[in-house]
Amino acid sequence: MPRGMPPVIVLGVESSCDETAAAIVREDGFVLADVVASQVKLHAPYGGVVPELASRAHIANVVPVIEQALAQLPGGLADVDAIAVTQGPGLVGALLVGTQAAKAIGFARGIPVVGVNHLIGHLLAVFLRREGTSSQVPAFPFIALLVSGGHTALYELRGPNDLEQLGQTRDDAAGEAFDKVAKLIGLGYPGGPVIDRLAAHGDPRAIELPMPLASRSHMDFSFSGLKTAVARHVAAHGVPTTEQARADLAASFQRVVVEVLVRKSVAACAMRGVPRLVLTGGVAANRGLRARAAELCAREGVELFVPPLASCTDNAAMIAYAGACQLVTGAVPGPIEVFSRSPILGAAQGSTALRRFKSSRLPRAKTGTPS
Ligand code: KG4
Ligand code: ZN
Repeated sequence: MPRGMPPVIVLGVESSCDETAAAIVREDGFVLADVVASQVKLHAPYGGVVPELASRAHIANVVPVIEQALAQLPGGLADVDAIAVTQGPGLVGALLVGTQAAKAIGFARGIPVVGVNHLIGHLLAVFLRREGTSSQVPAFPFIALLVSGGHTALYELRGPNDLEQLGQTRDDAAGEAFDKVAKLIGLGYPGGPVIDRLAAHGDPRAIELPMPLASRSHMDFSFSGLKTAVARHVAAHGVPTTEQARADLAASFQRVVVEVLVRKSVAACAMRGVPRLVLTGGVAANRGLRARAAELCAREGVELFVPPLASCTDNAAMIAYAGACQLVTGAVPGPIEVFSRSPILGAAQGSTALRRFKSSRLPRAKTGTPS
């Protein structure tokens, strides 16, 4: 954008899973509005997300959520320069609701609509800036651990247009493992926050569980065997009945997940010679993960960046920002097709899409508090 021009303002729309979200973000990452309608209560009785229910709830929520976000702008929709919408990965029916809403608004207003890969949204969420907060932003390159209910992977980001996946889970995502283990011991859904709370007063060494794919020489993860080990423990000893027994099991399970995630992330920093680590995704809310990452990073001389909770869990601000990054570099929006699984980012297909990003507009040179 030439000097003197007002910053580009982007409306973001996210509907890939069980949150209907809309946000307004400036091209510099400043968040002007961030609205999230969670469907947690709707899916809780089923112990996981029911795709058909999710799509129906998105249909009911998408317009009110967008209206609520737009209400934060003096001119409402007239102040919006472009729309960014999640096109995948996610539940196809759910994604169609967000993309159709975005396309309809874009068509009616005559403004561009760009499709965003949800994973790139999570990876760039560390650059979001929120009123009253002063979070640090990393310089490129950095290593990012993306841990959520649907994804667990490690990346090296050399610039927003230059990223490489280093490894990913071979089966369950870390958040999925938290949710499944919580279900096994009757803790409800979503399991992550409950296990996190319980683990705080449990003994992490109480129950011996296997550490899956523990080798630091490769960057893949696996969590389904760990879940099976917990299931075997429950089959042999019964569902824990006392608060302390539940806490001990939660702490023992969480310790193994956290240890694998943190050791591999720090090993990736060493392997790539990159002393900066970003944690992102819903599981980055985990207090045990944050504490252990801080400990190991301090020991190994790695600078740790963890975005605020609202930026870690699913939100539309990260989608708006990733869309803004495309737009300010003059990318021409193409047709938006939804997809359920992401191509591997940094591999042939992913990098073709990413070539449309340019790093020059992003806070990349310095580490520090954004002005
Ligand atoms: O990023 P997110 O909001 O949605 C997805 O893209 O999946 O992540 C949701 C996941 C759920 O599996 C939830 O159990 C997990 O994040 N989660 C946590 C915590 N808070 C949410 N896992 C561990 N500890 C937490 N405190
Ligand atoms: Zn997500």
